[in-house]
Amino acid sequence: MIRCNVDGAVLEVEIHRPEKKNALTGEMYTGLSAALDRAAGDAAVRAILITGTREVYCSGNDIADFLQRPPSSEASPVMQFLSRIQAAEKPIVAAVSGMAVGVGTTMLLHCDYVVAGEGATFSVPFVNLGLCSEAASSLLLPATIGQRRAAEMLLFGDRIDAKRALEWDLVNAVVADGDVLGTGRKRAQALAAKPADALRTTKALLKRHLGGAARERMLEEGREFNRLLHEPAAREALTAFVEKRPPDPEKYK
Ligand code: COA
Repeated sequence: MIRCNVDGAVLEVEIHRPEKKNALTGEMYTGLSAALDRAAGDAAVRAILITGTREVYCSGNDIADFLQRPPSSEASPVMQFLSRIQAAEKPIVAAVSGMAVGVGTTMLLHCDYVVAGEGATFSVPFVNLGLCSEAASSLLLPATIGQRRAAEMLLFGDRIDAKRALEWDLVNAVVADGDVLGTGRKRAQALAAKPADALRTTKALLKRHLGGAARERMLEEGREFNRLLHEPAAREALTAFVEKRPPDPEKYK
């Protein structure tokens, strides 16, 4: 369900679970971590491209997994993936076609270049699920798009479209939906052709002012997230999704 393909010096990583809108399970996070480890350990890989399918990028963490196998520590597959993408030294391009929900959006904050299709949408509906930000998004989202916009996205959880995502600097470019993968590939290949040391050094310097703080924030968010996962509001919101019914707002108090 995480498909990897090497094209020249680019490791292409595809999130592929279309029947569940590319929702990520523990096993898939482990697959993503393995892909990032492979890229880190192979000198022939000089850039990484992360894609979803044509219809959807990623609908976030698998909600049934949240209920059955809640992440409980730094060792959990989701935290392992997040710490790797945060620490990745090689450049990462993301090509987003369709919806990017939850971690589907927050992982983009750790990517170096993001191209989106015209039909792409972005949302971080953690609060609607009784949860809080993750992946250091409470730090990196305001740093990327500004405090007010980050608060709007994180507190309301509404979707923004690709046009707004571009205006807000959440993505670098918007192209026709059919051109997303091709553009992502071109941008990743362009990075892979550059002097590797200069590229890595520049990426490290770009991340220096927020890198340590992002790592710390991620752990802090992880603790709050895990606490909230066991509270009645989240149990109700997540169970309602699985049972395909509206949540009972009485349980949100
Ligand atoms: N976890 C588990 N299953 C998910 C999922 C998720 N995050 N997102 C979608 N699915 C499943 C649906 O349950 C459905 O499964 P089924 O066919 O067995 O019933 C299938 O994927 C198709 O989803 P559906 O809801 O019918 O598609 P849609 O186009 O109407 O809506 C979404 C797509 C993404 C808007 C909607 O599925 C959704 O809100 N998902 C939850 C997103 C979310 O809150 N993620 C967590 C953020 S922390």
